Amino acid sequence: MRLLIIGCGSIGNVLATAAGSMEEIDRIYLTDKVEEKAKAMVNEHAKSSYIRFDDDSILHAMDDVELVVEAASQEAVRKFAPICLERGRDIMVMSAGAFESDALRERCFELSKKKRGRLFIPSGAVCGTDGLRSAASSQIDEVRLITTKGPEIFRNVPYLIDKKIDLGSLTEPTVLYDGPAREVLRLFPKNINVAATVSMLGVGFEKTRITLVCDPDTRTNSHLLIAKGPFGEIRAETNNTPFPTNPSTSYLAALSAVAALKSIVANRWIGV
Ligand SMILES: NC(=O)c1ccc[n+]([C@@H]2O[C@H](COP(=O)([O-])OP(=O)(O)OC[C@H]3O[C@@H](n4cnc5c(N)ncnc54)[C@H](O)[C@@H]3O)[C@@H](O)[C@H]2O)c1
Repeated sequence: MRLLIIGCGSIGNVLATAAGSMEEIDRIYLTDKVEEKAKAMVNEHAKSSYIRFDDDSILHAMDDVELVVEAASQEAVRKFAPICLERGRDIMVMSAGAFESDALRERCFELSKKKRGRLFIPSGAVCGTDGLRSAASSQIDEVRLITTKGPEIFRNVPYLIDKKIDLGSLTEPTVLYDGPAREVLRLFPKNINVAATVSMLGVGFEKTRITLVCDPDTRTNSHLLIAKGPFGEIRAETNNTPFPTNPSTSYLAALSAVAALKSIVANRWIGV
């Protein structure tokens, strides 16, 4: 099996390492909008080849692989997911927040159905998505996600700058936003992909309520997922270790991509 990874950062690195040790994977193509990052990763990973970050090279690579992995940014999802699915190619998307856009989500969902390229969105940094998916087969009355991260994650968020919220002066856990997932994803596009994953699985972007908390003393990225309905109640708490290279990303998110790749390679799905 051949793989194209778009985005050679924290998640891309963990995935390329894991893929390199899978005997079913013959070749890993790597590309990144920052050329040096992709080239550096090629030097470090077995079975890997560098792909120039231009449309022709990427399209050519796409046609030569069985799976494309986006581990880059929402911008990359908007650009590459429809092209990939249009070609009937399988794609794994990590920047799930991009699917807050109804137009993009509906187009990609439609293409995957029509052209039979599969769209994989791993659970990422949140636990409890398995139960939420099952519960959604019937009725869910309420879905809530309480996410707590440290101040450094929220630096340079335009919404907080506009509101003149001084993260450095916080002395206790403080709610930065509480409201529908749709709004949170628009205001904090780089900080909470899991809000999109949970919304798509459960009750949608309007009804999923997200509480975003900044805790000056925390060293984890935490998510408490609560869902209620006739099935009972789900409470899933995850206290994630952040990546040193990108504290906004949790190590578990990269591992969810590795786990998804293992399932794809083995064509075996347990706990879905
Ligand atoms: N689903 C989840 O739970 C979850 C969790 C963590 C991170 N993420 C998302 O996954 C993505 C990757 O995370 P990461 O921690 O590896 O990020 P990172 O910043 O460590 O690495 C991203 C890499 O992608 C490259 N890149 C950015 N935009 C690009 C584009 N348009 N085309 C090609 N390359 C591009 C960057 O140069 C960088 O090397 C991010 O969008 C992040 O928000 C999702």
